[in-house]
Amino acid sequence: RSAGIIGAAFWRGQSRLGVHEGPDRIRSSGLLERLKQQGCAVKDYGNLVFDDVDESSVGLLKSVAAVGGANRRLSEAMKAVKMDGHTAVMLGGDHSLAIGSIHGHSAAVGELSVVWVDAHADINTPLTTYTGNFHGQPMSFLLHELHSKVPVLPNFSWVKPCLSAKDLVYIGLRDVDPAEHYILKMLGVKVFSISEVDRLGVARVMEETCDYVTTRGKKPVHLSYDIDAIDPSVTPATGTPVVGGLTYREGVYITEHLSQTGLLSAVDLVEVNPQLGKTEADVQSTVNTAVDLLLGCFRRLREGNHPTDYT
Ligand code: ARG
Ligand code: MN
Ligand code: MN
Ligand code: MN
Repeated sequence: RSAGIIGAAFWRGQSRLGVHEGPDRIRSSGLLERLKQQGCAVKDYGNLVFDDVDESSVGLLKSVAAVGGANRRLSEAMKAVKMDGHTAVMLGGDHSLAIGSIHGHSAAVGELSVVWVDAHADINTPLTTYTGNFHGQPMSFLLHELHSKVPVLPNFSWVKPCLSAKDLVYIGLRDVDPAEHYILKMLGVKVFSISEVDRLGVARVMEETCDYVTTRGKKPVHLSYDIDAIDPSVTPATGTPVVGGLTYREGVYITEHLSQTGLLSAVDLVEVNPQLGKTEADVQSTVNTAVDLLLGCFRRLREGNHPTDYT
């Protein structure tokens, strides 16, 4: 069991400064050391270097070529980390990076299931977005079913859809645009909105999530975790906070449960923005929660753990 860590200090999928500081802040809060302490081998691939590209917009769409180019690089890096045999960890950066992360993961291992934990569905197409931010659109580039709805954009011609709607589960949604809601219903995507978390409890949501993703065979699981899924009282340092989110405990439970299935093959941890905390305590709380979510992805249990050869 080993973690291969990629830093993606990219922010042009949205407009708030600071989300590029996520990878280094998460590392400096002790992620690598704590993974090693819990018996996990770690390889840090460092931060990706992105080309300077022209920042021009296409209509409403912001930094099109930059987003396409950065994701192409990430896709290649992700593929390489998976080929090296690690469970991949992508530290963002904004959530537009899920395009490259999931694309590269799938290029290495084939068909995937994706568990997307977020306040938002991030399934706008370049035609339905009204913010022009690519972090609200990554899923539209990845789904086979939306291929015909997505125009080819500068630096995006390399992107090939790699995911079927039936292999996608959302958890925690509570801020979904009307066009996104229409798309989710039209495609029959499995959604455990925050209301379902209220109704069923997180334990039942995770049981049903795992049953759902394994009914068509045990595909490797890609967990894409947006820190804004968690309630902003716990993780305030993020660009698009939404009240009424997952508790810390529910958030960690999701990672513990997925980790125990043995199917977790890659994890994104995105949208931590250290410049958006009002106080240093706000930033620490956000970053520490991000670290705990990642530790949960690597077999950490809150009941405690011990090495198998412990005497
Ligand atoms: N739905 C809004 C949009 O399309 C907000 C998306 C927020 N996404 C995120 N990854 N924080 O822009
Ligand atoms: Mn979000
Ligand atoms: Mn299960
Ligand atoms: Mn998101």
